[in-house]
Amino acid sequence: MYNGLADKKETKIMPKKLKSPYGIMQSMVEILDTYYPEHKEKGNGIIQFYFSHEDQYWTCYIKADERHLEFYTGKADSPAVTLRCDFFHWLDLAAGKLNPVWGAVTQKLKFRGKISFFKVLPRNFSINIDDMDDPYTDFEKNAVKNWKQPQSVIIINGSPRSDNGYTEQFAAQLAEGMEEAGASVEKIYLPKLRIKTCIGCWNCWIGENGCVFDGKDDFYDLYEKVNRADMIVYAFPLYVDGMPSILKNYFDRSVRRVYPYICSDTPKMRHPRRIDKKNQTMVLFSICGFGERIQFRALESHFEAIAHNFHVPLIETVFRSGAMFLFNNPFCYRLQIQILESMKKAGSELVMTGKIGRKTKKRIEQEFTDKKEYAKMTNCFWFDKITRKRNGNDY
Ligand SMILES: Cc1cc2nc3c(=O)[nH]c(=O)nc-3n(C[C@H](O)[C@H](O)[C@H](O)COP(=O)(O)O)c2cc1C
Repeated sequence: MYNGLADKKETKIMPKKLKSPYGIMQSMVEILDTYYPEHKEKGNGIIQFYFSHEDQYWTCYIKADERHLEFYTGKADSPAVTLRCDFFHWLDLAAGKLNPVWGAVTQKLKFRGKISFFKVLPRNFSINIDDMDDPYTDFEKNAVKNWKQPQSVIIINGSPRSDNGYTEQFAAQLAEGMEEAGASVEKIYLPKLRIKTCIGCWNCWIGENGCVFDGKDDFYDLYEKVNRADMIVYAFPLYVDGMPSILKNYFDRSVRRVYPYICSDTPKMRHPRRIDKKNQTMVLFSICGFGERIQFRALESHFEAIAHNFHVPLIETVFRSGAMFLFNNPFCYRLQIQILESMKKAGSELVMTGKIGRKTKKRIEQEFTDKKEYAKMTNCFWFDKITRKRNGNDY
């Protein structure tokens, strides 16, 4: 049967390469044969193709019988219809972009036999599997409107410095406030778990046994836990304008929260959800080294996209810039206490109302107004570290 030269040796482990026209034809026929059942009623016989493009030529045919469409290279004995054309004109015809009659009139397509036979091919290759749409739920659109207090909250600390970083100082306060408001809070430190890096094999989507690392690392237990929680707080430092790689890997491994299918009923396409729990929310808390909130802009957009794709509303974002400065500058001590207290308040407010009060958030996110002073102090700090090794690597 098929023996296209360009992809004859193509196997799963070989590097991907561009298919030859034979490979393209083979794929087309496979798709038609699988997803276009009506072809059985539309015609029996052989369509012979003589394709050319620039100075290259390909001869092949499609055989349609009662049950199947099959693809062959070479010349058939008695084709019902023959098409001679540039390969790209054929692609236009197959995609419904070139009308066969107009193609014949303009000499782009040269048919011999009945053109109507081409009804054997659909105008497009739509796949008729069940409706996959999964539109926004009312909860997704406005989770806070009819707020129900979350029973279980998970705070995922994605700082590579785990419970020894500044992230933890803030997250601990948030957790306390949440507990005071009646939620049960579990803190998870990603660096303490063994989570292998996603290898992009899609086994979690298509394999019968889930992810290839299930049972071999700690991810699956975390995944199950996260799926059951009412609220997930992601707390982590800004790394290179985004999230640290351990957290990004957590999200990569979480792709199984959705099906591979695609739904097109939202302004931006996404996959349908696979997790039953529909009233989960997420919160983003991040800290950074620079002293301005604007540093979090790319991260914020990234999380909005994640929330959309995972069907989990991002109900609140809290950003604390200049976190290191806050903790290492003795002149900021009062502010530090104030902000940590506000974090606790934010935790309670989040649980009780699904939002952080405007005043609380303003207090947490307040910026250092004197940028020159901020830079000067920070530079002294690093100069000290580099030249005098004061307090070693402890910061
Ligand atoms: C590899 C690395 C990249 C960083 N990238 C940024 C950045 O892009 N912008 C920023 O303002 N701070 C950046 N920082 C600073 C951290 O966000 C900051 O030190 C934070 O307080 C560290 O949190 P932790 O103590 O929980 O580890 C980076 C730090 C590291 C180690």
